[in-house]
Amino acid sequence: MVRLACSSVSFWALPASLRLSVRSASVAPVLRHSYSQDATPRNLTIAGTDYPTDTWTNVPQSILSQYGRKLHIQPDHPLSITRKLVESRFPGFRNHNTLPGVVTVDQNFDSLGFTSDHPGRSRTDTYYINKDTLLRTHTTAHEVDVFRQNSSDGWTLSADVYRRDAVDRSHYPVFHQMEGALTWDRSAFASRQACMDAIRESFDKLPKHDLVVEDPNPTFHAERNPLQDKYHSADEAEIVAAHLKRSLEDMVVAIFTAADKALIASGQSSESEKDPLKVRWVEAFFPHTSPSWEMEVWWRGDWLEVLGCGVIDQPLLIRANQLDRIGWAFGIGLERIAMLLFGIPDIRLFWSKDPRFLKQFTDAGPMKRFQPFSKHPPAPRDVAFWLPKTLKGDVVAETPASTASAPNSAGGQQTSSPRNNAVEAELAFHENDLMEIVRTIAGDSVEDVRLIDSFTHPKSNRRSLCYRIEYRSLERTLTTEEVNEMHERVCGEMVGRFGVEIR
Ligand code: DAH
Repeated sequence: MVRLACSSVSFWALPASLRLSVRSASVAPVLRHSYSQDATPRNLTIAGTDYPTDTWTNVPQSILSQYGRKLHIQPDHPLSITRKLVESRFPGFRNHNTLPGVVTVDQNFDSLGFTSDHPGRSRTDTYYINKDTLLRTHTTAHEVDVFRQNSSDGWTLSADVYRRDAVDRSHYPVFHQMEGALTWDRSAFASRQACMDAIRESFDKLPKHDLVVEDPNPTFHAERNPLQDKYHSADEAEIVAAHLKRSLEDMVVAIFTAADKALIASGQSSESEKDPLKVRWVEAFFPHTSPSWEMEVWWRGDWLEVLGCGVIDQPLLIRANQLDRIGWAFGIGLERIAMLLFGIPDIRLFWSKDPRFLKQFTDAGPMKRFQPFSKHPPAPRDVAFWLPKTLKGDVVAETPASTASAPNSAGGQQTSSPRNNAVEAELAFHENDLMEIVRTIAGDSVEDVRLIDSFTHPKSNRRSLCYRIEYRSLERTLTTEEVNEMHERVCGEMVGRFGVEIR
């Protein structure tokens, strides 16, 4: 990796008085990865319910204060407009939009077939209320319940989801996903063949499009993307997969046609600059589907990963007491789509209560591109530090930020050295913990945190990391004093929590 010198915006940019307090904090006891008992109350009250805390608790107040905003159903909000646009492509589906975000470990992981060592379960990636309860990391957490309820063949479910993740302009610890599923009850037909005929008939009635579709792989592949041959015939999986792909292709045509229209209406692009829209299907892995795919869309010069989907894992349906149902499911991140549709450059804007933002959008179309209303200067500060000598275990730095439907579904990034047991392993340092400290202290006044330097001293063997934190508010200009004050607190927390030595 290229070694970059830490610039003038480092620790040394702090006034001497602050440097002193940061340095002197280095004698503070190391509270690595555990929230001190003093800081964690015995109970957390979330939406009126009390939950006991324990050693797993890692959800900070700053996250809980965002709980319940329900942006995806707030009238005239761009996330709600996006949700409705997607829902409109699935006529006859039941739309579940108000399921609470506190779920059990069983709902979020076990019931979906996540292995016990899946990185998504780790406390560095997921907000736990206690060892059994967490803030859902994906809308898939409700699949078993909704299938068990069995109130419609087709349904969508939109909700806020929570992940401890990177800080940048397209990642925020709370975001929104939509889950969708369609199943057929084989026992309601005279034969399995009759059920397949019905799926084919429904497929034939789906809207047709003239999209270029790249789909080079076979529908299933024994190693890479297996058929659930214990439960499904090849013909059944083929027709379900065809129905799934056509339905989702239709949905993206609708979305990206709307995005094109808004772009052209804003004068930011012309009809002639329009690239033909293309879609490609990429083999994927999710614990809750097989075979599985991600869909990527070629739009205005880039391949964008848009969603994850697949043929629903049959044991999951059996757990939901739907022994004879077969079908497909997908999950899509709403912010990603809304940012494209409206040209919203920073994910924090969705949380803005500023009328200059909110007044720009209306449920009553046509869709309009976002007009930036202010640009406030960024205030970069670096934090460079030595990790404690005594640390054993993995150091996780410069992990790719997650996407809403990445192969490591439900959060949980593959680290460079795979962890044997993501839940048990003692990590020396995980950068998501730094992200969390910065978010807790700076709130929405931080735009980006990234590793700019990492090296190991050849003699002492000590590891040094340097992160650049871009402080910037979307709503006002931050003063030097307040930025320094926030940065000093970040440095202090790093020292207090991880025993690092600021350089
Ligand atoms: N749960 C996945 C995630 O959070 C998204 C997803 C993928 C949902 C495939 C699905 C699916 O329903 O079939 O990344």
